Amino acid sequence: MCLFNSKLSKIDYTNLHKPLQIANRTFPVNIIQGPLAGYSSAAFRLLTWQYSKPAFSYSEMISANALAKNSRKTRERFLTKDPNEGPVCFQLVGNSAKELAEAAKIITDFGADMIDLNCGCSVPKIHGNGAGSSLLLDRPKLYKLLCALRQSTPLPLLVKIRVAIDSDQTNIEIAKVIADAGVDCLVVHGRNWKEQYSTPCRLDAIKFFVEQMKIPVIGNGDVCCLESLKKLLETGSAGVMIARAGVGQPWLIGKLIAEMEQKPFTIPLPEEVGKIYIAHVTHLAKLLNSEKIAVLQARKLARPYAKCIKHRKEFCNAINSCDNLLDFQKLCNDYFW
Ligand SMILES: Cc1cc2nc3c(=O)[nH]c(=O)nc-3n(C[C@H](O)[C@H](O)[C@H](O)COP(=O)(O)O)c2cc1C
Repeated sequence: MCLFNSKLSKIDYTNLHKPLQIANRTFPVNIIQGPLAGYSSAAFRLLTWQYSKPAFSYSEMISANALAKNSRKTRERFLTKDPNEGPVCFQLVGNSAKELAEAAKIITDFGADMIDLNCGCSVPKIHGNGAGSSLLLDRPKLYKLLCALRQSTPLPLLVKIRVAIDSDQTNIEIAKVIADAGVDCLVVHGRNWKEQYSTPCRLDAIKFFVEQMKIPVIGNGDVCCLESLKKLLETGSAGVMIARAGVGQPWLIGKLIAEMEQKPFTIPLPEEVGKIYIAHVTHLAKLLNSEKIAVLQARKLARPYAKCIKHRKEFCNAINSCDNLLDFQKLCNDYFW
């Protein structure tokens, strides 16, 4: 839910629209589609690229342990990039320097554009296993893992963190470890690992990192419209990451870029949104090599895609009991057209 009024004001937004430089890469825009486990597949990213052209998109988080063990399932599901999609930052999650180094080599050979270490995930399975946001509590370990990654890939290295739970001093220590390890770009989600989405994102904490770091800092949290984007860019962040708001509206980043450039932008009509939804799920079925799993995933995509249709609730209920692609397409045809 957007906390900001999306009405365009008379403020000049054009100065917010800047290129983004990360190590040796320059991106013409500074908005990024963020990682979303269970969502940011190649199918999702391709649509984001077709409708928005963000600076780059993130993969879902990928277990370094599974990659290092050469898990076929993990490779097939996560090491995918459509030839027609734009740059992708592949995100690793892990707690072992050896596994992360091995996984980074695999991802580099695969053809990733950038690599990120997940230091923000707070779900018990990850945090409790000494990975994700728990790395922010153990700075020596964080340093060791980042150095291992740095040594195993020439690609730009990013880190995505949450802010510290206790003090500015902890944030300073985290910033120092990240700088010392030779990371190229920091992404800061302005909540601590214990905070839920009901707590608003802390822009002052993002600004704190912007002021501490020499490398570019990308701010993240609660951006869904021009006003919230502007507030985040006012922290001095070199770029902005949008995660949840991109689901079901792959044109969002394109719309925001157009608004910053004060150019017209036409939001897709419901028929077009129906086509996008069908393309998304059909592509998922190919990627996952399973119509059944794709249709299951279609269920959680129903609400975001159906925002524009009249009988949204009825449609979502119908999708929830649908179990094959043909019926899924028929339902979309009935409700979006
Ligand atoms: C369903 C879901 C999955 C997520 N998966 C990841 C992930 O794989 N890696 C990660 O770093 N953050 C993940 N996040 C966090 C988001 O990338 C982002 O930091 C957070 O949602 C705040 O940004 P937003 O307000 O733009 O959504 C996830 C969030 C959600 C809701």
